[in-house]
Amino acid sequence: MKSLIIASLLTAALAAPTTPAEASPLNIRREKDCCPANGAQPDGKLPGDAINTSVLVPISKKKPDYAFPATSVAKITPDDFCTIFNLDLPAAATQGKICNLVFDFPSHEKARDLFTFHGPGHFTFTGYAIGVGAVPGQTTYNNQPAPGPSPPNPPPVMKPGNSYIINAAPCGIPPEAGTVTVSGSLCSKDTSFTFKQSNVICPLGFYVILTDDPNA
Ligand SMILES: *[C@@H]1O[C@H](CO)[C@@H](O)[C@H](O)[C@H]1NC(C)=O
Repeated sequence: MKSLIIASLLTAALAAPTTPAEASPLNIRREKDCCPANGAQPDGKLPGDAINTSVLVPISKKKPDYAFPATSVAKITPDDFCTIFNLDLPAAATQGKICNLVFDFPSHEKARDLFTFHGPGHFTFTGYAIGVGAVPGQTTYNNQPAPGPSPPNPPPVMKPGNSYIINAAPCGIPPEAGTVTVSGSLCSKDTSFTFKQSNVICPLGFYVILTDDPNA
């Protein structure tokens, strides 16, 4: 039973696919005035119960034993820096909900100087085991959190002006679980990307958006 729950939570948190928001008519309609939308964020905003990252920790393939401190600016460079993000899900709030892991990526106009982006925008999302996450000052490239399933169908490309659902599935967290950490890393072979996880004009970065599960 326990492993079943764990498996479904992992699936919920980091693994299922959806169509990127680019194709959404909502996005096309009012792209100029609004924040980029997706199925879980029809107005492109963060709902009040959106779950923010708790910790961002860079790792570097070229400094594989260096443990970086926590940062508020994620850094990804081609085949070197990745950033691990932790999200702490409060079990009670997730009951009967779909956990949508999103990456909100507004245009420069809607995010001021909060990100830099150079390259074709191919990224890899690696999921870690449930209940583990990056530990600032401890986690390194050679000492990453224990492995877990990765999203099977992440967006093939991410570019400014879009809001992506990386994964959407029933949260599947038992009500008595307290707070459950899920984590993953963002890397790229071809793109340099820095962003400040923030919500200034539009949200920018990783969030979990809870939506009602019609089958719950
Ligand atoms: C979210 O968390 C990050 C650190 O992980 C912090 O810098 C940021 O201000 C928080 N708030 C929002 C809305 O992103």
